[in-house]
This record gives sequence, C-alpha cells and structure tokens, in this order.
Amino acid sequence: MNEIKTLPDTVALDDGAHALVIIDQTELPRRLVMLSLTTQPQIFEAIQKLRVRGAPAIGVSAAIGIYLAAREIAAETSDRETFLARFRAAKEYLASSRPTAVNLFWALDRMEDAIPDGGVDEIVRTLHDECLRIRDEDIASCRRIGENGLRMLGGARNILTHCNAGQLAAVRYGTALAPIHLGHERGLKFHVYCDETRPLLQGMRLSAFELSAHGIETTVVCDNMASILMKQGKIDAVIVGADRIAANGDTANKIGTSGVAILAKHYGVPFYVAAPRSTFDANTPTGADIVIEERGAEEIGGLWFREPLAPEGAGAFNPAFDVTDHELITGYITDDV
Ligand code: MRU
Repeated sequence: MNEIKTLPDTVALDDGAHALVIIDQTELPRRLVMLSLTTQPQIFEAIQKLRVRGAPAIGVSAAIGIYLAAREIAAETSDRETFLARFRAAKEYLASSRPTAVNLFWALDRMEDAIPDGGVDEIVRTLHDECLRIRDEDIASCRRIGENGLRMLGGARNILTHCNAGQLAAVRYGTALAPIHLGHERGLKFHVYCDETRPLLQGMRLSAFELSAHGIETTVVCDNMASILMKQGKIDAVIVGADRIAANGDTANKIGTSGVAILAKHYGVPFYVAAPRSTFDANTPTGADIVIEERGAEEIGGLWFREPLAPEGAGAFNPAFDVTDHELITGYITDDV
C-alpha cells in the first residue's frame, strides 16, 4: 500500500485536455486513481462526493472548474452580457456543491473579480491565468504555514491530528501537516497520531497514508482514544486544519475537532489551527453563523461495512463539521510572512 512514495499534485489543470485533474480520494489508500474532469456536473460531483476535499483543494478545484466553464461558454457566445449571465449561473452551481469551506466561495468570488472589461476571449485568458495563480499561491502559502508551524511547535514532536489537512487537502504540503512534512524533509523525527475521523475516515485513509508513505512514524487511533493518549502524556501538541475561521476566531473543521480541543484544554496540551488567509472569513462574525453541512445517514451506518450495521428504523445525524470555540485554540498557524 505504501508503494506510492510521492503523490502527484492533488489538483491540477491539464491545458491540453482542458480538464481538472484530481486524485480520487475516495479510492485511497488502496488505489491511486487520477480523474480527468471536463464537465461542470463531473466537477460538482467530485466536490460533493469528496473525491476532492479539504478546504484549500476545494478552492483550487473550483477556480479551475469555473475557468473550464468559462471556456465552454465562450465557445457558444461572444456576447459579453450573455457570457457573464451564464458565467454567474455556473458559479452558483459550483458554489452549491458544499456549504462549509469558505475557500470554495472565496476562490469563485476571486475568479469573478478578476474578469476584465474586454471581450469574451480576453476574459477567458484572464481566468486561465487567475486559476493558475490561485493554485500557485496555495502551494506557496502551505509552504509558509509549514515554516511558521515548525517555529510555533518548538520541540513538540508527538502530534495528534484530526481528519486530513495534509497534502491531500491542498495542492501540496497541506496546512496542519505542512510543518510535519517540512520538518521531516529536514531530518526532524515526528510521531503523528491520526484520529481515524469517523464517519468518512479521512484521518486513517488519507493522513495516515500520506504520512507513512513519506516515512513519517504514524499511528492510527479511533476517535475515542484521543483522551487516553493525552492522559498518558503521549501528545505534545494537536494540529488541525480549518474549513472556515470566523471573525472572532471560532473555527469550523471536521466533525470531532471541537471534542479534541476540549480534551486538549483539559489535559493542558496546546491546540493549534493551521490555515491560509483564504480560510479566514471576516464576513462571518462568529462560529454560530457558519453553515454546517449535513450528509447522508448511509455514511454512518453502511458505507464501510459489508452490510449496513445500523438497525433499521434508527435515525442518523451526520453533521460533517463542528465549530471549536476560539477560547479553546492556543494559536493559529497562518501563511503570514
Ligand atoms: O469533509 P472534508 O474532508 O472536506 O473536511 C476537511 C477538513 O475538515 C479539513 O480539516 C479542512 O478542510 C482543512 S484542509 C487543509
């Protein structure tokens, strides 16, 4: 399984095929499957089904996706007003794929803001360059998060993380795992405990996969084991990513994150949130204003089992994210220089 030592970029634009190219994360860790997506429904489905997931990766995918939509529209009309109306409809469509990660909306708005005054051909050329700029900035900002995170971690080497905020959640490096990847490159010895992260197992399938593939000591634990790890003094620091950070610092991240933060506070373990500036949302005052995605019941009772295990007739509540109060967060590791 760990034969895959180096991963390609999580998200890319194939200019020859006019396609968004992604790693299909629903297939990991068993198979490394690349998907080449050309139509808007394909891109929408990939985001909604978490084939591509993680706030920064969703943002870059949406930027490339809306550029591809613009190309398609431009092939059918050269009238600027008609083009703009159809562009905005395509933008709305992609924006409705998932509600919580602000990077999706941030990237789509930034693409619209980049539209110049000229004709349709010029608009498409500008959008092409803008989506690549967003991709390049994501790579650079994750690298800076890595540098800043290494400084903030000091001597902490035993780390707990929740969900996947690594390379697979961005284009390269990731956010929460960027300091680990960078430190490992420089010879530092980390031991990362990955919460499996029910119900979709991003911690076990993705974080543990990308860390161990790079030769980093990795231990998978069930979500309900974080407490004993902290009680036994095995964790020096917790690092997680973020889907949206409200103006007051409240942070939406994968369901279960807030419970880990509460435990960390109880046991005196520093709890860090790592995120680029594109995840900070000044327009959302507090965590209470963040829309929390709810997903299907089958993800809880059926998905990973040979037969559905939840008894028929039992309901299921499946919020994909929760909000960690800012008081529980020791510090934010950002891409600030
Ligand atoms: O539902 P997912 O897998 O998209 O949730 C992802 C997370 O919660 C990540 O921790 C977050 O997006 C930060 S990614 C750098």
